[in-house]
Amino acid sequence: MTRKRRLLSGMRPTGKLHLGNYVGALENWIKLQDEFESYHFVADWHTLTTDAEHTRIIPENTREMVTDWLAAGLDPQKSPLFIQSQIKQHAELHLIFSMLITTSRLERNPTLKEQARDLGLETRMSYGHLGYPVLQAADILMYKGEVVPVGEDQLPHIEMAREIARRFNHVYSPRQMVFPEPEGRLSQFPRLPGLDGNRMSKSLGNTILLSDPPDEIRRKMRTAVTDPQKIRRGDPGRPDVCLVFTYHKRFTPDGVAEIRSGCESGALGCVECKQRCADSVISHVAPVQERRRHLEEYPEQVTEVLHEGNQRARAVAAKTMDEVHEVMGFG
Ligand code: TRP
Repeated sequence: MTRKRRLLSGMRPTGKLHLGNYVGALENWIKLQDEFESYHFVADWHTLTTDAEHTRIIPENTREMVTDWLAAGLDPQKSPLFIQSQIKQHAELHLIFSMLITTSRLERNPTLKEQARDLGLETRMSYGHLGYPVLQAADILMYKGEVVPVGEDQLPHIEMAREIARRFNHVYSPRQMVFPEPEGRLSQFPRLPGLDGNRMSKSLGNTILLSDPPDEIRRKMRTAVTDPQKIRRGDPGRPDVCLVFTYHKRFTPDGVAEIRSGCESGALGCVECKQRCADSVISHVAPVQERRRHLEEYPEQVTEVLHEGNQRARAVAAKTMDEVHEVMGFG
């Protein structure tokens, strides 16, 4: 039997997940779980890059997020689920890697530049923020990750991880290749936009949470933007510019043709279309919510999963660091 390739991915602990985190990210992790030897982790140190002050909320946000991971179907038997800050080796490998990349290379990272612009940080970015792709490289290479499912914005970071792996191997172990060069893997489904058509994000207040109760999903769906030219039922609509139609494509796959023709002819009004869309989302998340209720009743299960995941991750990390020390001559 051929060895399964290693997959690694992480998310910052943002608390309860929204549908945008689910479609395109979490669902993809779950789908790939059998094909790869997967590792999934909570990137809690990464939240310090943009918000170093609010650390107290991280443990609760971690629990809520991991509860959603489990409820959605990530299987901790197959894939260790762990917390970055509990595996101290990430910090050591980050330090070593930080000597193998130039600051000008870090400054050329388009995702970081964009983030700096959005947050108004151009002239006062922290040293750790500039270097966070190096920490990300350590996260990935610690587990010799070969495949990294991420959104498009993360591809520049994966490219840096490849460069760092290459450089490390070249300098310290030209004959035995300690690290693989990881590749980014985009999901087939693009991320779901928020209810106002922008990127779905808690800070923009345009989310539907995976754990929102049915009434809340219906209420939020009523606020979704539609084709601005379709004002009342009877007006012909343009599904391809309608956000609700984007949701239907994902959550009502069997009804898409009929919804399209109803919208275009005007027979289907937006109110009814949104009700149907809310119903589709509700039935899609129902099994996830059922499992979430169970986990909320037995919160020690989540604690146990993380405890065990941390142990498994630590064992792998210790082994990698032994190799690193050896090839560097730190014995
Ligand atoms: N930087 C990623 C994000 O902001 C999170 C992350 C940290 C990550 N380390 C990683 C993702 C390693 C994949 C692999 O979403």
